[in-house]
Amino acid sequence: MSAQNQITRYTLLRFQKMREQGEKIVMLTAYDASFAALADAAGVEILLIGDSLGMVVQGHDSTLPVNMADIEYHVRAVARGAAKAMIIADMPFGSYQTNPADAFTNAARLMAAGAQMVKLEGGQVMLETVRFLVDRGIPVCGHVGLTPQSVNQMGGYRVQGKTEAGSRRVLEDAKALQQAGASMIVLESIPAILAKDITEAITIPTIGIGASVDCSGQVLVVYDMLDIYPGRKARFVKNFLTDGVSIKTAIENYVKEVKAKTFPAPEHTFP
Ligand code: KIV
Repeated sequence: MSAQNQITRYTLLRFQKMREQGEKIVMLTAYDASFAALADAAGVEILLIGDSLGMVVQGHDSTLPVNMADIEYHVRAVARGAAKAMIIADMPFGSYQTNPADAFTNAARLMAAGAQMVKLEGGQVMLETVRFLVDRGIPVCGHVGLTPQSVNQMGGYRVQGKTEAGSRRVLEDAKALQQAGASMIVLESIPAILAKDITEAITIPTIGIGASVDCSGQVLVVYDMLDIYPGRKARFVKNFLTDGVSIKTAIENYVKEVKAKTFPAPEHTFP
């Protein structure tokens, strides 16, 4: 195939432009080639191989048991299924917290498997690692607010940034991640007003989940928005597979609602 015939994937430059022009960015998790192809065709612009796979695919009660080989396997499958969407791979627990060099070695494995960017959880404590990866050519998506890999420290899957000190900490984390070179930040389970403030305070795209319609884009776990996951439903989850629609239509409706700013509605966010 000639270079001219190749379908080009979404790029970070494109997402930065979308943010600047106020066009919402649509991200969804994917773990296999068939769902990746369906989501890609439905207009999803970023596919995240989230470590949520530990819960929704492997049946664990947290994301902590997921390892590098698991994420690599699912990145390869998703990369084979998706032609246009950017592919972001989650760095699993234990693969990046030790030191920047370990983080680079593991991030490079995920890039070799087919990712165009890696996502890691945490704020201030991760700045050196983010800078190390970015300086060596690996784009990084940050993840602040509720960081599921720290569930044991947080005492459960709880909304973060509710106190004045807590909200200041999440805001400062987001600013510092941008300063360290992150190109995108996931904001999870924080008050809607805080998500809006963060989105206005930084210039890179913010992607919300249980955050705010005012984020630059949204992400959901695909098994949640199709109501497949049997576990407890978080407030921010909407079931798009209703009234006998197909999975393809459900994902298309998710894309439409994010673009139209009708998802998330106030009932999917936290006061
Ligand atoms: O693992 C995951 O799927 C995630 C999203 C929920 C943002 O990190």
